[in-house]
Amino acid sequence: MIKTIKDFDVKNKRVLVRCDFNVPLTEKGEVEDDFKIRQTIPTIKYLIENNAKIILMSHLGEPYGKIIENLRLDCVKNSLEKLLNISIKKNSDCIGKEVKKAAFNLKPKEILLLENLRFYKEEEENDDNFAKQLSELGEIYINDAFATCHREHASVVGVPKYLPSAAGLLLEKEIKALSKVLENPWRPLVVIIGGVKIENKLKLIKNFLEKADHLLIGGKIANELLIIKGICLGNPASTEKIIKEIENLNLTSSKLHLPIDALVSLNAEGEGYVRETALGKVRKEEIILDIGPHTIEIFSRIIEEAKMIVFSGPLGYFENPLFEKGTREIAEKITKNHKAFKIAGGGDTVFALSKFGLLDNFDHVSTGGGAMLNFLSGEKMPGIEILKNE
Ligand code: 3PG
Repeated sequence: MIKTIKDFDVKNKRVLVRCDFNVPLTEKGEVEDDFKIRQTIPTIKYLIENNAKIILMSHLGEPYGKIIENLRLDCVKNSLEKLLNISIKKNSDCIGKEVKKAAFNLKPKEILLLENLRFYKEEEENDDNFAKQLSELGEIYINDAFATCHREHASVVGVPKYLPSAAGLLLEKEIKALSKVLENPWRPLVVIIGGVKIENKLKLIKNFLEKADHLLIGGKIANELLIIKGICLGNPASTEKIIKEIENLNLTSSKLHLPIDALVSLNAEGEGYVRETALGKVRKEEIILDIGPHTIEIFSRIIEEAKMIVFSGPLGYFENPLFEKGTREIAEKITKNHKAFKIAGGGDTVFALSKFGLLDNFDHVSTGGGAMLNFLSGEKMPGIEILKNE
């Protein structure tokens, strides 16, 4: 068991909270989707109600150790101020004299937001001195950044070496919900895997080929499997290593359901033509952009019977309305199964569900992309493991 925020008396204490405010931004640099920020509000409100002095820290994007003006956390500050209806202090750095002064001057219920942690390369290098400097800002460390717990970074695994540490309410909620799938799933357990990040998804496929009752695969990962296994024409986009892994994958399991038909076009814009076809009839010059109606029907029947459903990754190129049908209809089908415990996660999946207005119909929507996949693949996550030592 790990300690949670409720195990500490936070009154008048400087509580340093690692959040994951790594949100998508608009071209103007505003927060495009505040889902991850909203999910941290219960922890922040808890700290306000319990008279803590609150210091929030996060990364945003991939500045690779350099200051990138449009990756400053001011947009997150604006978003938090709207959600909490209070004003928040912010520094233009995350360590140093000025930040320390601001942290030590905080009064109970006040919030200080630090600048993007990844402006320092030391964050991703898990530099001990950087972690120590961060830790000096607080008296208690809370990790509420489930989405970053698979990273061995200074703010995730370095800081808790120096401070009494515990999980925040979001991290606790994520662990509870996702553990249901790992430890004692309701059956039939149906896992739907789509999306574009193939390497991570392969681990998930291998794990759930053992654990799930049905594994439904769509999206780019299905296209790669079908092409590499010679079931349909096309050029694989994967690296040699991934191609080898896919070649060695046993696709004969009766639990595994791959698309049997698809929507194809010559390009992602759907210019020229869009046509429905059986997979064996995809032409070499065509690309698969969505699952077809027969696949939707087969997948839907399996989903109807499920008692637990994990939805990880869109089934087609839903960003283009021409190719959103597969993802939309499968998402709708999931939400109509009222007896099943329904989990979704991953940046693109959350974006698709929010676009279709279906986000609230899931029992748990994970803030983690890579982190959720790692957790569900049964891997130990450094950010969680370190809290177990407390
Ligand atoms: C995420 O968005 O999944 C987390 O913020 C982790 O981001 P990263 O993949 O850049 O470490």
